[in-house]
Amino acid sequence: MGQVLPLPVAESSPEDRPVLVLDCGGQYAQLIARRVREARVYSELVPHSITAAEARARQPRALVLSGGPASVYAAGAPKVDPELFALGVPTLGICYGMQLMAQELGGSVERTGVSEFGKTDVRVDGESALFTGLPEEQTGWMSHRDSVAAPPAGARVTAGSPAAPIAAFEDPERLLYGVQFHPEVVHTPHGQEVLKNFLYGVADAPPTWTAAAVIEEQVERIRAQVGSARVLCALSGGVDSAVAALLVHKAVGDQLVCVFVDHGLLRKDEAVQVVETFEGHFHVPLVHLSAEERFLSRLDGVSDPEQKRKAVGEEFIRVFEAESKRLGEIRYLVQGTLYSDVIESGGDASVAATIKSHHNVGGLPEDMEMELVEPLRLLFKDEVRRVGEELGLPERLVWRQPFPGPGLAIRIIGEVTRERLEILREADAILQEEIRRAGLYRELWQSFAVLPAIRSVGVQGDERTYGYPVVVRAVTSDDAMTADWARLPYDLLETISSRIVNEVPAVNRVVLDITSKPPSTIEWE
Ligand code: XMP
Repeated sequence: MGQVLPLPVAESSPEDRPVLVLDCGGQYAQLIARRVREARVYSELVPHSITAAEARARQPRALVLSGGPASVYAAGAPKVDPELFALGVPTLGICYGMQLMAQELGGSVERTGVSEFGKTDVRVDGESALFTGLPEEQTGWMSHRDSVAAPPAGARVTAGSPAAPIAAFEDPERLLYGVQFHPEVVHTPHGQEVLKNFLYGVADAPPTWTAAAVIEEQVERIRAQVGSARVLCALSGGVDSAVAALLVHKAVGDQLVCVFVDHGLLRKDEAVQVVETFEGHFHVPLVHLSAEERFLSRLDGVSDPEQKRKAVGEEFIRVFEAESKRLGEIRYLVQGTLYSDVIESGGDASVAATIKSHHNVGGLPEDMEMELVEPLRLLFKDEVRRVGEELGLPERLVWRQPFPGPGLAIRIIGEVTRERLEILREADAILQEEIRRAGLYRELWQSFAVLPAIRSVGVQGDERTYGYPVVVRAVTSDDAMTADWARLPYDLLETISSRIVNEVPAVNRVVLDITSKPPSTIEWE
């Protein structure tokens, strides 16, 4: 008899063996999941209530217990299934997560009366898997009132801080690890290395979650889902719909048709860029509907911000619906739902779609009976951008700042007319060009021009003018929930101001918006 050779085993994809981040209520749980992925290891955020059996079914590479706002002794404090610690899966507890481990596993947690908030000196003590290759003295960002008074039975203390003698512990036998500081925040300079030590050194997780791997996996999934059916995708000009469309096109080629409803409220050259990129460069079947006329007549006489949004949204649906009917039977619709939408909706696809549509080009018709293809469902925004880069999407599209669905209509205060659109578009183009030239475009969450509904007196040459002011709005933000006005350099502001008044004849004044959100919003309408 010949030798029996094992059959080749299909290589598992990174998603088959996730790192599960248990959300114990901390504001940083999502950030931990992102940091793990930045280390090229796939991770998912799950509720702290996940049972050991549910966790085991996912075959996790590791578990991470996040921080949380509560004290482990508070009534209703988030708990985890203690059986999780007996799964033999490497587990890292962070802050509250560490304290939970101590409490559950034979250690103790106490309110010592000394809190630590902010940057804190952490001293590593002896051999440690988490601190391998890192300095003995380092800074850890802390935020805690309670402290671990005794580590879990059998665990060794590996670091201490002035107010928390037990700032880290390790139990290599049971694969249990804890840190009191937050390795996921940038204020912990070696935090990412601590996470990598845990992921690579302890959990033996390979760094295989790359943009190329995501593309390969998604292409296979899309093929499996849609077979030979046709797929429709609405392109908005933003990065999400662009990347979603390219993934689907890579998977099923010309079974995909993209519809780009150009409502005439885009910024200068934006529509041309979309058409050139998709049709010209990627050869994606594209229907470009130039519907400026329709949208402007619908906006005629409308000056209330919400009415404008409604008008643009409804018109968008009408145009899109008519086009999809014209295109004949199409079974699938691409939706650029992101992982953060999925998390926000508690994993419910229909809620996620609603959240997305609120933030998008007016949203898609609710009663379109099409099945959704959601190739970005597992991705955070920064991952969408990396996938976009890997797919060869031009830098301008990959890094485009967020742009509201109703476009310039909500940056023109009051009535939207063709003349005012033209003025704003020119002023905004100058602003964008100068921001890019200064290398600030990516640092800013959004930067744009606003056209208020007033005019003011100026003097140009020997003549008095009565022209429009333009407002410069530039903000930094992480998520648009709060935002700070950007401290743009004076020289840059001067260039923007003088170019706008010199090159846009209807404008004779440029002002700067120096309010944050709250109390202001980012947009002016
Ligand atoms: P605000 O102005 O509320 O904006 O601070 C927060 C973020 O949402 C964007 N935004 C919109 N996006 N349709 C959209 O697709 C809208 O009607 C809309 N209104 C605001 C805004 O650009 C910012 O990023």
